[in-house]
Amino acid sequence: MKKYITIWGAFLLLLLSCTKENIVDKSDQFVDELLSKMTLEEKIGQMNQYTSYWEMTGPAPKNSSAQKRLEDIKNGRVGSMLNVYGAKATYEAQKLAVENSRLGIPLIFGYDVIHGYKTMAPIPLGEACAWDTEISKLASRLAAKEATAAGLHWTFAPMMDVGSDARWGRVMEGCGEDPYLASLLSVARIQGFEGDDLSKENTIAACAKHFAGYAYVEAGKEYNTVDIGTYTLHNMVLPPFKAVAKNGVSTFMNSFNLINGTPATANPYLQRNLLKDKWGFDGYVVSDWGSIKEIAYHGAAEDLKQAAQLAINAGSDMDMESNAYLPYLKELVEEGKVKESVIEDAARRILKVKYKLGLFENPYKYSNPKREKEVINSKESRDMARKIARHSMVLLKNNEQLLPISKQVKSIAIIGPLAKDKNTPLGSWRAQAVKNSAVSLLEGIKNTVSSNTKINYAKGCDLAIGTRDFRAELNFSNTINKREIDKAVNAAKKSDVVILALGEDCFQTGEGRSQTDIQLKGTQMELFKKISKLNKKIIVVLMNGRPIAIPEIAQKADAILETWFAGSEAGNAIADILFGDFNPSGKLTMSFPRNVGQCPIYYNHMNTGRPNSSGNVFWSHYTDAPNTPLYPFGYGLSYTNFTYGTVKADKESYTKKESVHLNLILSNTGKFTGEETVQVYIQDPAATYARPVKELKAFQKVKLASKEEKRITFELNKKDFGYYSPEGEFLFESGTYYIYVGCNSRDVQKIAVSFID
Ligand code: BGC
Repeated sequence: MKKYITIWGAFLLLLLSCTKENIVDKSDQFVDELLSKMTLEEKIGQMNQYTSYWEMTGPAPKNSSAQKRLEDIKNGRVGSMLNVYGAKATYEAQKLAVENSRLGIPLIFGYDVIHGYKTMAPIPLGEACAWDTEISKLASRLAAKEATAAGLHWTFAPMMDVGSDARWGRVMEGCGEDPYLASLLSVARIQGFEGDDLSKENTIAACAKHFAGYAYVEAGKEYNTVDIGTYTLHNMVLPPFKAVAKNGVSTFMNSFNLINGTPATANPYLQRNLLKDKWGFDGYVVSDWGSIKEIAYHGAAEDLKQAAQLAINAGSDMDMESNAYLPYLKELVEEGKVKESVIEDAARRILKVKYKLGLFENPYKYSNPKREKEVINSKESRDMARKIARHSMVLLKNNEQLLPISKQVKSIAIIGPLAKDKNTPLGSWRAQAVKNSAVSLLEGIKNTVSSNTKINYAKGCDLAIGTRDFRAELNFSNTINKREIDKAVNAAKKSDVVILALGEDCFQTGEGRSQTDIQLKGTQMELFKKISKLNKKIIVVLMNGRPIAIPEIAQKADAILETWFAGSEAGNAIADILFGDFNPSGKLTMSFPRNVGQCPIYYNHMNTGRPNSSGNVFWSHYTDAPNTPLYPFGYGLSYTNFTYGTVKADKESYTKKESVHLNLILSNTGKFTGEETVQVYIQDPAATYARPVKELKAFQKVKLASKEEKRITFELNKKDFGYYSPEGEFLFESGTYYIYVGCNSRDVQKIAVSFID
């Protein structure tokens, strides 16, 4: 306790002389003073992060390595812990550090709060389909509110890896395939997490991850090599990271992959030259789990010691579970292989984030059992989750306006392995969500329809069988269960409307879940085929964490609603849409391929030298499938209809200092109030370095009542028309540009403008 009193006293003295304006200088002053008292070992201790393998509130562990960890915490050799959560556990763990170590420096507790702590919002890929920064902020607010009430200071989110390969299971954690959208939404997510004042008890430090290139793993295979040119790096991978670094984020996490031969964790260009020097990022970089150790496995270091040397010199400030910094950094300094100033810089960055969180003021401030009880899973949280979920869903098909269904419908069949599943909607990366705690589709529909509606439920088939958890390989049920299929057929036959809930198991996407096939697993297609032969109106409700290949469903179902893994309130939110309490407005942020062979498929591709058919086979295409996706980026329907007026630019020709002003009239010509996301893409058809066929540069989400119309305007300038050279230099070139405006990346109007020098 004595040590804590000393450090707290220093903090108090500093605070007395503090005004809001000079708080930043004060943090520097405080941290500098603290650093001046710290030994080299203590500074290195701050750079070490351990996971919790034991129950912090229980008796001391017997296992010797766990025992060592406890001793390390007590002796100031640990700066951070992950996977300690809950007001009580974080309090106990904090006490170990604060009351026993020489300087009593508090720990920072990190955890993967990816789309909620206990109350789950939709998975990030779904949330991104709202194309709405306010919704993204709200989702992070929800997560921050609950996580901080459980004593957490730091979340390992948001993931901002721009990716277009549906085989890679981690696409569920990101924003999709577009760097512009990912930049906007990532900034919003961070604002939601961190708020304006990180020291507030309900704001949490965010972590921009994974820096960089992880989504480009070859063949979509997890932890695989990344070999992309610097042109792709600067134009596709880096923009969201640059945007959040410039806008302010407390921490970054590097990534597992090699990038052009160098492991990202050992990459000085990315972490030092770009992030810290050029972009001015003043937070700290944590390695990914074990990624320092993996430098040697990649074949880029002789041993763990050399890996530690490479990682710290490259700018990885904190070691997550490689156990590389604690044993080797001091030795490396003594040998002159790592400068002491490098250690000092890393420790300073970490201590500054702790300062911003207010941990020196009160290391226990987040560990508040009363708040934990009040906030977590409160009605307010559930309402937030339901709102976000409604906005995340994408209506892919709606023949003859089959949806919305009347709440007075006489009978509905609810069929499918996911119809009654209360676990799958929680998705993967679910922090402390209680297993089976989501509102199932069946429950949501029962909560919504009239008491006279007869519901005929049948599972039809199983999907995943055996252990279903975060760590285990998943097994699927591949044998057709005739009895279950018959029951499903009977349920469908006696119902007016058939709803089929199909898709992926919750643990089918996420880390370690790459697939070579993205069609529906198990016997779901057999079930679909049987039901689709019955000549009934079929609505397919999809639950999945990545784009899936569903050409037959797209052709034969009457309506399709993509609901992703919609979180704790999934069933209620889906029912809100199916029965018309909410008009769907989501738009896809990843293209849906027709088959896995098209992966990676993305709207912002290059033209190639042979883009069009010339009457023979010698053009850029597949001989067995079209080039186009099944559903393009930006696609999503509404229950109402929107009509786009002619798009006009204010001029044809501009100087490079001028902005292009666009306008058009958008009309709601349908029967319902609805929201439309008007999208603006550009193309530079003749650039120094060839540019993609389309690039999203602006969008607006507009709400219109039935028969209402509105003039929509956009302003585009240099930053929108420019791009990066392979060397990372920003170029804005004169010449003709095409501008495309429309309701998705495919259905657009085209105009041309030009810039003169
Ligand atoms: C993941 C990170 C995550 C970390 C800590 C790693 O395996 O790649 O995204 O934050 O584990 O759980």
